[in-house]
Amino acid sequence: MARSALLNVMVEAVRKAGRSLARDFGEVENLQVSIKGPGDFVSAADRKSEEILQQELARARPGFGFLMEEGGTIEGTDGQHRWLIDPLDGTTNFLHGIPVFAISVALERQGTIVAGVVYNPVMDELYVAERGGGAFVNDRRLRVSRRANLHDCVIGTGVPTLGRPNHPAYLKELEAVMAETAGVRRVGAAAIDLCWVAAGRFDGFFEHDLNPWDVAAGMLIIREAGGFVSDFDGRDKIFETGGIVAGNEDVHRRLLAILKNAR
Ligand code: IPD
Ligand code: CA
Ligand code: CA
Repeated sequence: MARSALLNVMVEAVRKAGRSLARDFGEVENLQVSIKGPGDFVSAADRKSEEILQQELARARPGFGFLMEEGGTIEGTDGQHRWLIDPLDGTTNFLHGIPVFAISVALERQGTIVAGVVYNPVMDELYVAERGGGAFVNDRRLRVSRRANLHDCVIGTGVPTLGRPNHPAYLKELEAVMAETAGVRRVGAAAIDLCWVAAGRFDGFFEHDLNPWDVAAGMLIIREAGGFVSDFDGRDKIFETGGIVAGNEDVHRRLLAILKNAR
């Protein structure tokens, strides 16, 4: 598959940051057993990954702005483009030595996500999509699953943690979804969850309280794989509400209905 110049820039940046994260991940296991634990080390790995991404992307596309989980907002001089970056999605996994984490980078042009890349350096899975150009994992074309009967479906989700709101409301949603489906999974990295919907591993996904950098790339990857993504009310207000529901057309519609009834 011939990649565009833009995707090449993004892929080079995430691969470089991915090498850094993978090296640091190797250290985490040693630190698990130390009294202090790996907390500070992981924060440093996270920041290092973001620095690499910012440097590489700014060098290749000077003038573009940034919205980064760690570094916040940097206004660009070009006023049209903005990178949305999560330098380490799945931090809790990384911290616990669980090899399921990713880098997520998306490009927004005049408010529309036009390109997205998610890279899991441990599984060496590189998910890419450009608006109108389809979605790929390691150059293989992605399609969402074709399952329509919820009883056969595996649904990914994010479980709210300590410090996150609305645990009772979430439990009602989970109860409603688990009663209708073949299985519910909590992977611990929203960017990966969304890519797994695009890859047909998950038939659907739902989570509240996500940030734009968690979902920007994955949303485009799902849509380019033929899937549907919305907020919990079926609207395109994912960044505004933080809620996301995804799946193929049927699963997306059915999940929205189940989740609405559970409220
Ligand atoms: C988190 C992960 C997790 C989701 C959390 C996110 P982080 O991102 O995507 O799966 O449930 O809501 O904050 O903190 O690991 O970048
Ligand atoms: Ca994240
Ligand atoms: Ca993060």
